[in-house]
Amino acid sequence: MSKINILILGSGLYFCGRGANNDGTILPSIMSDDLSEKINSCTIFGFSEKGLKSSKNKIFTILKKHPNNKIKFFFQKISLINKMLRKNYFDCGIVSLPDHMHYSYIDLLLKNNVHVMTVKLFVFSF
Ligand SMILES: NC(=O)c1ccc[n+]([C@@H]2O[C@H](COP(=O)([O-])OP(=O)(O)OC[C@H]3O[C@@H](n4cnc5c(N)ncnc54)[C@H](O)[C@@H]3O)[C@@H](O)[C@H]2O)c1
Repeated sequence: MSKINILILGSGLYFCGRGANNDGTILPSIMSDDLSEKINSCTIFGFSEKGLKSSKNKIFTILKKHPNNKIKFFFQKISLINKMLRKNYFDCGIVSLPDHMHYSYIDLLLKNNVHVMTVKLFVFSF
């Protein structure tokens, strides 16, 4: 089986933690021995230059704790998401955005045939 390419939306507390002593929940799972060998790449979409920069810094700090990690990490502006989805590069997406943003992005990913994982609310109302 070929290795998968993951799209990440939201790289805050749940994804990579906050502060020096907290690495979050999702990133440590991805980096675990069992999962990491099944993953080719992780592309993190940022919503602002500042947010993207701080995600990069935090993730590279965590990566230093995993010297054998072979997952490739890419960072992209959110404005490029449609263009990249059209290339069918992503196998699955993890949505870890504020709750009110879940629906529109989960909908976008599903419409582009990307499997989606999210935690908590899918929608507030419909
Ligand atoms: N923190 C946890 O332990 C935890 C546990 C289970 C589920 N969750 C769920 O995961 C999701 C993300 O939670 P979190 O704690 O990582 O949140 P967070 O605020 O730390 O991170 C949110 C991410 O979304 C981005 N973002 C994009 N647009 C935004 C906007 N308009 N406003 C605010 N942020 C914006 C932020 O830059 C950041 O990368 C939520 O749905 C939450 O319920 C969190």
